[in-house]
Amino acid sequence: MSRLEAPGTIRSHERELKKAGDPTAMGTHCELRGATRVYPGSAGRPALHALGPIDLELEAGRFYAVVGPSGCGKSTLLELLAGLASPSEGEVFINGQPIEGNVADGVGVVFQDDASFPWLTVWDNIAFGLRQKGVSENIISEKVKGATKLMGLNGFESAYPAQLSGGMRQRVCIARTLMMEPKLILLDEPFGALDQQTRLLMGDELLNLWRETGATVLLITHALDEAAMLADVVCVMSARPGVLLDVVETGWPRDRDSRIVSKPEFGAITSRLWSLLREESLNALDTKQRGS
Ligand SMILES: Nc1ncnc2c1ncn2[C@@H]1O[C@H](COP(=O)(O)OP(=O)(O)O)[C@@H](O)[C@H]1O
Ligand SMILES: [Mg+2]
Repeated sequence: MSRLEAPGTIRSHERELKKAGDPTAMGTHCELRGATRVYPGSAGRPALHALGPIDLELEAGRFYAVVGPSGCGKSTLLELLAGLASPSEGEVFINGQPIEGNVADGVGVVFQDDASFPWLTVWDNIAFGLRQKGVSENIISEKVKGATKLMGLNGFESAYPAQLSGGMRQRVCIARTLMMEPKLILLDEPFGALDQQTRLLMGDELLNLWRETGATVLLITHALDEAAMLADVVCVMSARPGVLLDVVETGWPRDRDSRIVSKPEFGAITSRLWSLLREESLNALDTKQRGS
């Protein structure tokens, strides 16, 4: 049976085999157990069941993508993992510890919207988090140099965000997050506003930094090709309330880049993702049109 014909859910014995053969797999990093999020009603609006219940284990050092119809709870899932929101039911663990309503150490978040500070230069944007922590300027300077190089921003250190392209501004946000050396990097549709070529190149940069940092990455995206190209594992969510429809192993080697989009397996993975999501997206659209 080929990889793609097999059911997407990773069976535990397969996972053990994978761990044994993959030196970067280092056990469970995060876990959602029955995680559910209901937004309470307010001002006459009813409560809204946004997410779950979801059971999901993220192994340390692997690259995960989450895809699902608009409004299915992807950002809510990321907020739970980031500790920016608490589950209404169920639990979320990082390194075996329950998250209790605060961003756990070692977690870095990159949001969808350009979240650079427009009044600060590229350099000061990137240095921001370490300055807040009171780290010495010598160390900050060394780290900012490293991060600007890694994200291809050298030469632009004294520019302001308004002088940069959207792609470069997003790289500033990623560099700023990386400065804190997160072990878990959560990205919420970070390339949503970029054109296709820039998205592919940014994807390559993200793969590089994933390999270099050894971090666990969870990328939320609405682009199935991005998920299929970048991730080791693609989590496919249903329409709201989002639950996991399937967990698809892509089987790519760790050393990969955007050239895999020309491989036949790439087409097979994206069409599998699309067939899982087609009906869900139609449902989501229908619900929206009915105004609920
Ligand atoms: N703070 C909130 N209060 C009430 N409803 C919310 C809030 N945040 C998100 N929602 C709703 O929860 C659902 C899931 O939202 P979200 O997680 O942002 O979905 P996605 O990121 O998949 O588009 C949506 O219907 C959204 O309108
Ligand atoms: Mg979202």
